[in-house]
Amino acid sequence: MKAVVFKAPYELSVENVADPKIEGPLDAVIRITTANICGSDLHPYEGRANLDAGMVLGHENMGIVEEVGPGVDRISVGDRVSVPFNLACGTCRNCNNGYTSACLRANPSGQPGAGYGYPMMGPYWGGQAELLRVPWADFNLLKLPEGKENESDFTMLSDIFPTGYHGAEMAMVAPGKSVAVFGAGPVGLMAAHSAFIKGASQVFIVDKEPDRLALAEEIGATPINFADMDPTEAIMEGTDGFGADCGIEAVGYQAHDHTGEEHPEMVLDNLVKVVRATGHIGVVGVYVPEDPGATNELAKEGRVAFNYGEVFTKGISLMGGQCPVKKYNRELRDLIIRGKSKPSWIVSHEVSLDEAVDAYAKFDKREDGYTKVLLHP
Ligand SMILES: NC(=O)c1ccc[n+]([C@@H]2O[C@H](COP(=O)([O-])OP(=O)(O)OC[C@H]3O[C@@H](n4cnc5c(N)ncnc54)[C@H](O)[C@@H]3O)[C@@H](O)[C@H]2O)c1
Ligand SMILES: [Zn+2]
Ligand SMILES: [Zn+2]
Repeated sequence: MKAVVFKAPYELSVENVADPKIEGPLDAVIRITTANICGSDLHPYEGRANLDAGMVLGHENMGIVEEVGPGVDRISVGDRVSVPFNLACGTCRNCNNGYTSACLRANPSGQPGAGYGYPMMGPYWGGQAELLRVPWADFNLLKLPEGKENESDFTMLSDIFPTGYHGAEMAMVAPGKSVAVFGAGPVGLMAAHSAFIKGASQVFIVDKEPDRLALAEEIGATPINFADMDPTEAIMEGTDGFGADCGIEAVGYQAHDHTGEEHPEMVLDNLVKVVRATGHIGVVGVYVPEDPGATNELAKEGRVAFNYGEVFTKGISLMGGQCPVKKYNRELRDLIIRGKSKPSWIVSHEVSLDEAVDAYAKFDKREDGYTKVLLHP
């Protein structure tokens, strides 16, 4: 099959690799119809997370079931499915408690949590390819209505829509709350959308990319360009000096100032400033335990020096981590089916697998409005 293969930082190739096969009785093989490029894919792409050469990329996958193992009975050949980026066994303690993001059995390294085509998440090939093997298929796969309708909406269910929702959940967004979202990438945009679904009265969104801020404005969020103003002052002013009830971090460890210089603590510090005392912060932007490419010595060891003293003094709750996609994807799917949500509004480019190398380069530079790229094998 054809696949997007990681060679080295900034070096990918679209080439032929062996077709994935059913390896165990609970496996399925999916024929991919859509696989998205994610901001997380840029971590290995930029060499800011080590990935073995030869790995097939892609954790945002959907398609049609091509083949199932003899132990699979809920999912059938021909089903249209969304594949959560977390790959989970369904029977361990964490899976049973709903934390499929921290499955204790799926990652052979022993680290909790596994995924497709991503550093430290196990040996599983990704789905930026024609075919994808899905272990524990009955547990992992989400069925979608048959046909081709809403393809570019449903494709957001494998990661960023649930992840944005998880940010809003951890930030305890509820009817009437004011929300500050940092980062207007796909995850931040989904967090803003989710905050409105949960009934927020006011959603601020901070970034420096005008095209991304414009997308946020389309759904009623208040855009704040941090290249033009101090985002903390703008949010304090916009909340009559009270600060936001809820804060969502959708940037991650490569947070930077308007010149592009990285400051990994910058967004956390800003959130602590703008979230009011006893408010809540949800962190879905990724932070890593080791970052050899970090700009300071502490951050190289995953130590991000933000103002924890202020967090404690203000009694702010702070939660973070990978999104347990299965916790939310069924209900978010139903919002799409019933016409209450259209997450495809953020899609900027749809290209074939052959164009993936160029699409990665442009998405990485945030060129030409590259916000969310869908690959169609
Ligand atoms: N927790 C999870 O389960 C999960 C799942 C998917 C993605 N993620 C992570 O979420 C983060 C965002 O993903 P994405 O796909 O939207 O990535 P992205 O790189 O496309 O977007 C990040 C945005 O943050 C902006 N930004 C940078 N510095 C900023 C600052 N100081 N203030 C405000 N905005 C700033 C950038 O301009 C960019 O638009 C990444 O860290 C990604 O790895 C986490
Ligand atoms: Zn993703
Ligand atoms: Zn498990």
